[in-house]
Amino acid sequence: MKNTVLSFQRAKKDGKKLTMLTAYDYSTAKLIDSTGINSILVGDSLGNVVLGYDDTVSVTLDDMIHHGKAVCRGAKNALVIVDMPFMSYQISVEQALENAGRLMKETHCQAVKLEGGKSVCPQIKAMVEAGIPVCAHLGLTPQHINAFGGFKVQGRTEAAAKQLIEDAKAVQEAGAFAVVLEAIPAELAQLITKQLDIPTIGIGAGNQTDGQVLVYADLLGLFSDFTPKFVKRYANIGELISGAVKNYIDDVATQKFPTPENEYHIDDTIIEKLY
Ligand code: KIV
Repeated sequence: MKNTVLSFQRAKKDGKKLTMLTAYDYSTAKLIDSTGINSILVGDSLGNVVLGYDDTVSVTLDDMIHHGKAVCRGAKNALVIVDMPFMSYQISVEQALENAGRLMKETHCQAVKLEGGKSVCPQIKAMVEAGIPVCAHLGLTPQHINAFGGFKVQGRTEAAAKQLIEDAKAVQEAGAFAVVLEAIPAELAQLITKQLDIPTIGIGAGNQTDGQVLVYADLLGLFSDFTPKFVKRYANIGELISGAVKNYIDDVATQKFPTPENEYHIDDTIIEKLY
């Protein structure tokens, strides 16, 4: 059954945990979608995982559209959310609306995600009024990496925790249908989850949020540049890939590949005339 912003609301009411994973291409999206996952996020973690940047700051709107299109072709039942990249929504409400509109029209996603609290509420309100569902993102918001001075847990002081609670209420009030809480204390995430009517989706925020999200390459052991404490690795596909590629290299060197069943043939009478 197709997941929608309404089924997200229903899940929160019914106390059913929501599941979300990132994907950046058609084949991975198709595989993940077939598992019955609730949502696929075309995260701007694309910058780290696929494009090899140190952070998400360099990711462009065109990057997100290119990969968002591929994911949407592969996802039939998951709710597809595409990230608005750095500086595609901060300048003005008009800029945010125009770029969110492009993401929806060109990728066929069902929602967009942006980072920030009170400061981006005018943007969230305008998008929601225009019919664009918005997922907010609070806590360790990677687009603010330079302002934070690194990947640091957020909301640990009383003032920072109060600010996060206020921001969470503000994005809900502005019309966000869900909010991602990244790298914040589990106790604080639990409190925010209790105080909101919209679902909270945690990543490094404990197990009391309404759902969880992970970067699929972290879960599968495909990305090893850095692995945050909050990641659980469910498989080591990276090792499988290296092993398979080494076997291929050996087989080519020793002429074990290709074998006759991988070959095409021509009639002997024709080939004789070519000598
Ligand atoms: O870009 C991303 O993958 C994200 C998730 C980590 C929530 O924003």
